[in-house]
Amino acid sequence: MRGVILAGGKGTRLFPLTAVINKHLAPVGSLPMIEYPLHTLTKMGIKEISVVTGGEHFSDIARYLGQLHPDINFSFHYQPEAGGIAQALALVKHVVGNEMIVVILGDNIFEDDFLQAAKNFENSSFGAMFFLKRVLNPGRFGVAEIDGVKIIGIEEKPKQPKTDLAVTGIYFFDSTVFDKISKLKPSWRGEYEITDANNEYIAEGKAGYYLVNGFWSDAGTMDSRKSCEEFVKKGLESNVLRSLSANVEIGKMLIESFGANFKP
Ligand code: G1P
Repeated sequence: MRGVILAGGKGTRLFPLTAVINKHLAPVGSLPMIEYPLHTLTKMGIKEISVVTGGEHFSDIARYLGQLHPDINFSFHYQPEAGGIAQALALVKHVVGNEMIVVILGDNIFEDDFLQAAKNFENSSFGAMFFLKRVLNPGRFGVAEIDGVKIIGIEEKPKQPKTDLAVTGIYFFDSTVFDKISKLKPSWRGEYEITDANNEYIAEGKAGYYLVNGFWSDAGTMDSRKSCEEFVKKGLESNVLRSLSANVEIGKMLIESFGANFKP
C-alpha cells in the first residue's frame, strides 16, 4: 500500500508557533510533529509516501523529509488553499493509480500498530476502513455510529454527538475514493470533508471499522499538543529517534546533540 500524509491547513490553532514554521514541523517532544505519523506508516513497511502540504513554508517540509529520510520514496504535492482533507487527498490521485492507500493526518499521533489491519484490508472486500477511538470530547471530531460490527454513519463535528466514538485521522481506502471526492460539495465550514466521502463507502456497504486501543490524539491545538508531548516522552519519541539513527550520518548527529542520553 502507498502512504499519504495530509499536512495542509493553516495551523492557526498553534499560532504563534506557526508564524514561522509549518505546523507539521512544530516540535512534539524533541521531534517535528510529522515524524510520528511518518513512523506509523514506516512501521507498516510502507516506503512510497505522498505528502500534501501548503502555505508559505511548503518547501521546508520537502527539504526536511528528503534530508532525514533518504530511504523513503516521497512525492510532494502543493495544496494552494486550505480547502479540507478531501481536497488535499484529491491532489495525489495521479500518483496513486489503482493502488490501495493508507491516509494519515500529519498532526495525528498513534500508539497502535496498523500492519495487521492493513494486511486484513488488502485481503478483504472492504473499500474503506476507519479507526475509532472513545473520547471525552467527541464533538471536536468526526463521530461514528455503529451497530455491532457495522459502521452505520459518521457526523462531522456534531453539536449533539450520538456516541463517544471519534473517527481518528488514519484511513484505508481503495482507489474509488477519488471518484467519491470528485462528487463532493463544500460543507458548512467551506471544506471538502473526508467524512462525506467516508459516508459514501458506508452507504455502499463497503466500510469497516476497528477500535484503536492505545493512545491517540491530534497535536493541532496547544492543549492536544501538550498531551501528545506527555505521551511521546513515555517511549514513542525514543523509538522514532532510534529508527532515525539507523542512518549512520543522522545517528552521529543525534549522538552529538543528545550526548550520553542518546542510546541508538
Ligand atoms: C479532521 C476530520 C475529523 C477527524 C479529525 C481527526 O478534523 O475532519 O473527522 O475526526 O480530523 O484528527 P479537523 O482536524 O479538520 O478538525
